[in-house]
Amino acid sequence: MSLSIIILAAGKGTRMKSTLPKVLHSISGFSMLYYSIKEAKKISDDITVVLFHQADLVQDSMKEYFSDIKFVIQDYKNYPGTGGAIMNIETSHDKVLVLNGDMPLVEEEELRLFTQSDSDIVMSVINLENPDGYGRVIIEDDEVQRVVEQKDASSSELLTKSVNAGVYLFKKHILSTYLPKLSNANAQGEYYITDLVELAKNDGFKISPLYVKEENFKGVNSKKDLSDAEVIMQSRIKNSFMEQGVIIRLPDTTYIESEVIIEGESIIENGVSLLGNTKIVNSHIKSNSIVEDSQVVDSSVGPMARVRPASLLTNTHIGNFVEVKKSTLTGVKAGHLSYLGDSEIDDGTNIGAGTITCNYDGKNKYKTKIGKNVFIGSDTQLVAPIAIADDVIIGAGTTVTKDIESGSLVVSRVPMKIVKGFFRKFFA
Ligand code: UD1
Ligand code: CA
Repeated sequence: MSLSIIILAAGKGTRMKSTLPKVLHSISGFSMLYYSIKEAKKISDDITVVLFHQADLVQDSMKEYFSDIKFVIQDYKNYPGTGGAIMNIETSHDKVLVLNGDMPLVEEEELRLFTQSDSDIVMSVINLENPDGYGRVIIEDDEVQRVVEQKDASSSELLTKSVNAGVYLFKKHILSTYLPKLSNANAQGEYYITDLVELAKNDGFKISPLYVKEENFKGVNSKKDLSDAEVIMQSRIKNSFMEQGVIIRLPDTTYIESEVIIEGESIIENGVSLLGNTKIVNSHIKSNSIVEDSQVVDSSVGPMARVRPASLLTNTHIGNFVEVKKSTLTGVKAGHLSYLGDSEIDDGTNIGAGTITCNYDGKNKYKTKIGKNVFIGSDTQLVAPIAIADDVIIGAGTTVTKDIESGSLVVSRVPMKIVKGFFRKFFA
């Protein structure tokens, strides 16, 4: 689509009360700005993000995800305000959509609606019972006349319940003609993007309101707004999985980040967290388990298990208090209380309760490799680097420090001693 998009993200976000720039606060695993850019990219090949406060930090964090967007630093000193933010920005298309960077819930389909009108300006409007904090939009005969910021509004203008949600479509000629004419003679001494409306209106240009959903267009200005937005984002994510056939038990208690994939007949129980780039296929994640940046296929996890990044579980069962990290488990059973890190464990192998892969010597991490059909007794330590071949039995309580060849039994124990009658003598 021939549309340019400018995302405003230069503001300080004072009401957030944080040293982290407002737009980098995250919702369901990703920053607010990430969502704006992601949706923008679906409808535009020309995206500019306007930055100022902690610009380097914001830019670096976005470059991790997006390579083909432009960043511009606002001349904040001389031209503060949302109007100042869009001055001198080169855009390649005739229509320019401007978004606030603090509206993480706006989706592609809603943005498309702005491009469907032929008006010179289309601006987002919400009717609010309590319009407090927003710019008021004065509408007559279904055309926008002007926008007044709360701090500049007269007492009658303050009663207006139509507010500016902060998304605008401008024809390019409007920007080139009227941006140089903006003034900062207002309560905040800023250049307001919203003043473009009145300037264009006075010259007879057509300005249409587009009524948008309050829930999606609400700006996030405080930590309370952030948590409200999180609740909405979470229910979107979980509803969409349930529609695809995933069972989610007590969805209000589970947390699923936005890039997670769940496929097939999967069950996600209460209290589960699925984080980062996790993929769950035909699996059962039992209550209060955490899976992060890992894949779980035809497997069951938990209750109360933790799968840490870079793990792949296939046809495997891990039970309560089992922690897996950077490990590939194929056809494995580890029912209770184990740490399996930097390991590769093969089909038919049973890991007894209390088994630990000792992967760290205080300086480096080492790998553990366990073959097929290995029986590992309870309370075993495997001191890595180590390789256990197929068909091995390891007795309970063993500390394994050398590679073990196929077919072996391994036991290392202090010989057991029995002193008959000791108890009664001792306490006599
Ligand atoms: C703005 C609108 C207001 C509207 C509200 C909707 C103006 C003058 N007012 O007010 O009518 O109801 O949004 O949420 O536009 N920003 C910059 N550079 C700046 C100032 C702000 O890039 O110099 C960015 C911010 O980072 C933010 C966005 O613009 O993403 C909106 O700024 P904010 O200060 O939140 O505007 P509001 O006062 O809420
Ligand atoms: Ca705002």
